Amino acid sequence: MKPVGIFYFSGTGNTKLVAEMIREEFIKNGYEVDLIRIEDVLKGSCKFDPGRYGLIGIGCQVIGYSVPNIMYKFLRKVPEAENSRVFIFRTAGGVGPVNYNASNPVRRKLTRKGYEVFHERMFSIGSNWINKFDTSVVRQLYLATQKKVAAMCGEVINGQKRVLKTGLGLKLGIGLAAPVFSVLFRFMGKDLKVSEACTHCGLCVDNCPAGNIYEKNHDIRFKLSCNCCLRCVYSCPQKALSFKRLTFIPVTGGYDINKILNQACEEISGESATNRVPLFFNEYVSNGKM
Ligand SMILES: Cc1cc2nc3c(=O)[nH]c(=O)nc-3n(C[C@H](O)[C@H](O)[C@H](O)COP(=O)(O)O)c2cc1C
Ligand code: SF4
Ligand code: SF4
Repeated sequence: MKPVGIFYFSGTGNTKLVAEMIREEFIKNGYEVDLIRIEDVLKGSCKFDPGRYGLIGIGCQVIGYSVPNIMYKFLRKVPEAENSRVFIFRTAGGVGPVNYNASNPVRRKLTRKGYEVFHERMFSIGSNWINKFDTSVVRQLYLATQKKVAAMCGEVINGQKRVLKTGLGLKLGIGLAAPVFSVLFRFMGKDLKVSEACTHCGLCVDNCPAGNIYEKNHDIRFKLSCNCCLRCVYSCPQKALSFKRLTFIPVTGGYDINKILNQACEEISGESATNRVPLFFNEYVSNGKM
């Protein structure tokens, strides 16, 4: 049995957690699994070799109803293949039809290169932008996601087809809006500013997946290839990075999915919860097919 290759991009950890869940599930089913970050393929430290795999999983977060710019770079680099079988997994702040066209560019580009994209699924364990959900909500989304990942892996192993579809109106609307977001998000890095709290530790420069941050004359500067992944904003140890104008984007108090999940256990065992329950929550946790 050929191994499974899982290639993913994650800005703030949600997609990484889901990619790890998928790896565990395939291992339980007797597969050997390579789990590889897309940014490492782009840097050349890991290889994308479709011939090595019996199944290939490609995943990233939903950014502006579409894919982060790094995914386009990756898709350009992907070699042609003959009927390599691909499943797509996405994470999003919300699961529902408004995001169901988000993987169309990935499917189209891979199909043109000879891949067979036969399955796609969207998961949510939390949102890293605008609104942070209650920690107890995140915990329940996480548990529901574990079940959905197990279901997806079973379906993928059985070769079951699954395409996320919407009506034509939404398809056209999102098809027009998504490229505009994609261009706007490139410029987002230019709206970032660095406060005096910066210690010039270099972490943001080293960890930016798009190579969008550099230091010149003791100044942290940004180029025009931002992914809008927010990794730099949330992981700066000094909390020195913030937006000049787009101040509504990062969630108040930062975002760290592993920390939130740990807090969620305390909250479920008695601490207070607010009402930040997203609209899709009830259907997501109760409908195994969603
Ligand atoms: C700039 C930006 C745009 C986003 N756009 C969407 C969106 O269009 N729809 C959505 O449901 N979630 C959106 N999200 C939320 C993320 O998709 C979600 O939190 C995801 O799980 C983050 O994954 P990561 O932690 O692997 O980066 C957006 C997040 C950011 C930072
Ligand atoms: S991670 Fe923060 S403290 Fe370190 S160089 Fe970047 S902005 Fe400065
Ligand atoms: S500049 Fe920040 S938000 Fe933009 S790609 Fe780099 S780490 Fe992500």
